[in-house]
Amino acid sequence: MKGEVTCRRKGLLAGAFEVPGDKSVSHRALLFSALADAPSKVRGLLEAEDVRATRRAVEALGAVVRDEGAFAIVEPPERLCEPGDVVDCGNSGTSLRLLCGVLAAVPGLSVLTGDASLRRRPVRRVIDPLRLMGATFLAREGDRVPPVVVKGGALRGTRHALPVASAQVKSALLLAGLFADGETTVAEPHLSRDHTERMLSAMGVSLRVEGLEITVGPGRPHGGHSIEVPGDISSAAFLLCGAAALPGSCVTARNVGLNPSRTGLLDVLEAMGASVRVDNLLEDGEPRGDVTVSAAPLSATTIEGALVPRLIDELPVVMVMATQAKGRTVIRDARELRVKESDRLASMGEALAAAGARIELFEDGCAIDGPTPLTGGFAVRTRLDHRIAMSMAIAQLFMRGGEVRLDDVGCVATSFPSFFDILDRLTGSGASTSLSPSPSPSASSPSVSPVEGEGRGEGSRDP
Ligand code: S3P
Repeated sequence: MKGEVTCRRKGLLAGAFEVPGDKSVSHRALLFSALADAPSKVRGLLEAEDVRATRRAVEALGAVVRDEGAFAIVEPPERLCEPGDVVDCGNSGTSLRLLCGVLAAVPGLSVLTGDASLRRRPVRRVIDPLRLMGATFLAREGDRVPPVVVKGGALRGTRHALPVASAQVKSALLLAGLFADGETTVAEPHLSRDHTERMLSAMGVSLRVEGLEITVGPGRPHGGHSIEVPGDISSAAFLLCGAAALPGSCVTARNVGLNPSRTGLLDVLEAMGASVRVDNLLEDGEPRGDVTVSAAPLSATTIEGALVPRLIDELPVVMVMATQAKGRTVIRDARELRVKESDRLASMGEALAAAGARIELFEDGCAIDGPTPLTGGFAVRTRLDHRIAMSMAIAQLFMRGGEVRLDDVGCVATSFPSFFDILDRLTGSGASTSLSPSPSPSASSPSVSPVEGEGRGEGSRDP
């Protein structure tokens, strides 16, 4: 789905769904397999634009990626080669930052770029520490933003203390550490997602974790593995938060990743009073299971400190949910939201205020007073940010029949191409969106089915 869309769903959320593969794990599965000493198989790889960007990048470095039924087979090259062209990472910050760590060691010249959103995102956080390891980097606007130029060369093992908890930066440095001449240590202020540590260890890399410090030794990861990618809890989050706050709702997300460094949302849902149940928990590799969330009257909570990196990507939709909770929900220590695909505090602040929410923005977070009935009849600027588009599609469910126009939903394809289909199914909506050209939010349109989004009353179909 591309272009402008008007959301006009009604009703609650009910049923079970599977989300596509975890984006973070998918990037790593492709990239680490491309560095390995033998082919690997990946099952459940996310098929979405961000991961396609990583796939194209590893192919540019000499790997071959083949689809074989449910698997992607990654055949690494004998040694990584200088890319023949500029590597376009699209909208994907994870692709660009992780690749910085690898390309720092690939002989030759590489150039990394991306779309207008990615070309506004900071890179100094990754290129400065890589320079300390001996790497040569240049970037635009005084080394601030992509495109990034890398001249690969010899690297030395270094100790890094990160000022912010960032799994992308941590991973870039650990990857560079595989090529360095000694040990590389990364210390972070709070635990960020640890997929890199888990996957590299499983691939036989010498890696130790001591509290918030990770040390990696040089060496090539072993291939020959079968990597299982769980469903993405960050994608499931939109539907889980919607269900928690829409009276009468109950949804089950099947086979979602439950790595503790990613499950802050479940803690928040429970703290706010939603009912959360985990079934069929599997603990080997990346933990996974089925998560059922039922609606309940929600109360406000505070989100800060070590919890923030455990749900950083879920905060936009948590902000939507907070508008429906009783009391003042406070989010702090989340300045990182300002440097995501968009400035998510500004984007959500603008969109929720337009919907009538009572929201106060801080430099590092916000406070939201609820419950507030939201109102529609306005347009959201999605700003090339998939999580803004999906969060506001969920916000529309609280608009009691009100409509909201999303100016461009093409960005949803970066992480969750089936989002609108699943949302339609869980709300029992038939044709509850209209594609461009969209009618003005208040006007009814002949291009829209009259039976749009009638909601799931008793007896509506079960997914
Ligand atoms: C990611 C890390 C996080 C997260 C992003 C994916 C990763 O970014 O927001 O969506 O896969 O490593 P930061 O490392 O910038 O916190």
